[in-house]
Amino acid sequence: MTTDQARKEIQKLTDEINYHNDLYYQKHKTEISDFEFDQLLGKLVQLEQQFPELKQPDSPTQRVGGTITKAFQTVYHKYPMLSLGNTYSQEELTDFDSRVAKGLDGDPYEYFCELKFDGVSISLIYENGLLVRGVTRGDGVRGDDVTANVKTIRNIPLKVSGKNIPQSFEVRGEVFLPKDIFTQLNKEREDIGEERYANARNTASGTMKMQDSSIVAQRKLDCFAYYLLGEDLGIETHEEGIHNLEKWRFNVSDTYKKCKSLKEVFEYIDHWENRRGELPLETDGVVIKVNSLEQQERLGFTAKSPRWAIAYKYKAQSISTRLNGVTYQVGRTGAITPVAELEPVFLSGTTVKRASLHNANEITRLDLHIGDFVFVEKGGEIIPKVTGVDHTKRKGKTQPIHYITHCPECNTPLVRQEGEAAHYCPNINGCAPQIKGRIEHFIQRKAMDIDSLGEQTIRQLYELGLVRRPSDLYFLTKEDLLRLDKVKDKSAENMLKGIRESKQAPFESVLFAIGIRYVGKTVAEKLARHFKTIDRLMDASYEQLLEAPEVGEKIAQSVILFFSNPENREEVERLRQAGLHLEAVIKEVVLDSHVLEGKSFVISGVFEKYERDDLKDIILKNGGKVLSSISGKLDYLLAGDNMGPAKREKAEKLGVPIISEADFNVLLSGGKL
Ligand code: IVH
Repeated sequence: MTTDQARKEIQKLTDEINYHNDLYYQKHKTEISDFEFDQLLGKLVQLEQQFPELKQPDSPTQRVGGTITKAFQTVYHKYPMLSLGNTYSQEELTDFDSRVAKGLDGDPYEYFCELKFDGVSISLIYENGLLVRGVTRGDGVRGDDVTANVKTIRNIPLKVSGKNIPQSFEVRGEVFLPKDIFTQLNKEREDIGEERYANARNTASGTMKMQDSSIVAQRKLDCFAYYLLGEDLGIETHEEGIHNLEKWRFNVSDTYKKCKSLKEVFEYIDHWENRRGELPLETDGVVIKVNSLEQQERLGFTAKSPRWAIAYKYKAQSISTRLNGVTYQVGRTGAITPVAELEPVFLSGTTVKRASLHNANEITRLDLHIGDFVFVEKGGEIIPKVTGVDHTKRKGKTQPIHYITHCPECNTPLVRQEGEAAHYCPNINGCAPQIKGRIEHFIQRKAMDIDSLGEQTIRQLYELGLVRRPSDLYFLTKEDLLRLDKVKDKSAENMLKGIRESKQAPFESVLFAIGIRYVGKTVAEKLARHFKTIDRLMDASYEQLLEAPEVGEKIAQSVILFFSNPENREEVERLRQAGLHLEAVIKEVVLDSHVLEGKSFVISGVFEKYERDDLKDIILKNGGKVLSSISGKLDYLLAGDNMGPAKREKAEKLGVPIISEADFNVLLSGGKL
């Protein structure tokens, strides 16, 4: 490719990616799958590596990170990042309003109200329309330069364009981890045996301080912008600043309101008191700002905070109720989680019956007794927390909670490793929830992706004694499955088909699926690429493991421990027997042949192992034809994920066989369907 061609291609890809980014983040719509999007981004990364001189400062490839920062530079803020005064009552707010009125000598004024977002404050510096720096609050005077990390946050514009863009300006906002992403992240951590993160705010804060920006990119942080600063901005009110931010495509929460009187401010506060739970992040109050910038200047600052703004804090959504008991749950990794069983109580929109207690330390810290009245609070998470005990209500002689010593499911004595907060049931191969949990982990989408099985099916298969470990799935017969509740011929066949097709899953998926503690999908991918085969991984020494990317002591030890257990090695052998991929496929070179001679294909959807263009090539090289539309003469519709329903319908109507990627591989290796 010539430089000129590359320049054109880079521009085309950039425009296309920006278009889809914009559609997703501004209009919440998608036209292509994540996979296709990643493909576009991948192509651009590749071209920029090949032609580094053509890389634009606002290239969307910066969103994927990749920069490693050893130590963040300390940067002075141009305008100090002050805090806000807090008020907790209408009276205090009325006092604030009187101070404002007095400070403005009786001139009329308006307020601009926003929610107070509980994230991590950030200062974004733009010069000539380009984002040049992102800095944390630090001590308010100087903070850390976290530009590489900030650039991975997709709705922070890398470039602002349009009419009258100031030459230099600063945007303040709050970086946060959306609640649903946080819940998902914790679910994934729990699944691989990592401890859960305590709350979304601290996780967002920790993420901003990560040294590897490609990990930050995976975290899917978000940012609400709420303040435009600078000289000669050509605006007279805070409101105009906010509208500019909206116009320049910053993510501004549409929860703001201009209020003409204190009465309207109170209405705003009341309005959001019970609705703020619907937002994607925690909000602990409202920020009330004097709208006119000239008036803000007249009011000025105290040493710590502006006189023109104040925060009204909502009272914590907390309630007291009786602790009826504590139950204990056993997870896939054997980790025990204590759960508070509460007298049902209504708290901001839902009835709360149970709350998480985390671990034994937490119970000791709270000094919990059965029958205590405890305070329950709803934080950023869906599961409420017990935050304290109402000691005034403790009556008579109550018993402190004695943490269980034996597994509630299999009665094995629990163990607690030094330095770990959780207790574990060590009966890995004999404890029901651990066995079922491992199989559920094995079939999940990111692993073997057997969606024809579910939690209920696994439970029944376990109860009937048909499945004790993942490999047993591959030796199930139709008769076995017909023993399950409400399972008839068709669904049994469907289950078997799903199980059979899962054998095509690549090595990295199998490696993730077998459930080595601390080996999540990303680590599994790195291990697969590094060691290439399961045999080499199983025989790797501790030192050799440490040489693999992203593998530290904790993971290396865990891999060694896993494969030092003969039962795990036997399981690997059974999976091998079943025909799973235990070796990495390094982009297969498909030899030219005539196996697809005379066969025509329409390709639709997204594929696991192949890119669409690869498929086309392979079909042509092996004697087949690729058509663009479905007709009665077509031999096969090759269907990947996300295929449109219209195509499926048409093929079904015309009796054209719809085949999967796995079926295609069969054809390719000369087999019959
Ligand atoms: S304005 C000079 N608006 O609250 C005051 N701050 O206690 C500029 N915050 O450090 C701040 N939501 O991190 C403002 N809508 C909002 C906010 C907000 C959250 C945070 C911000 C600031 C802290 C002040």
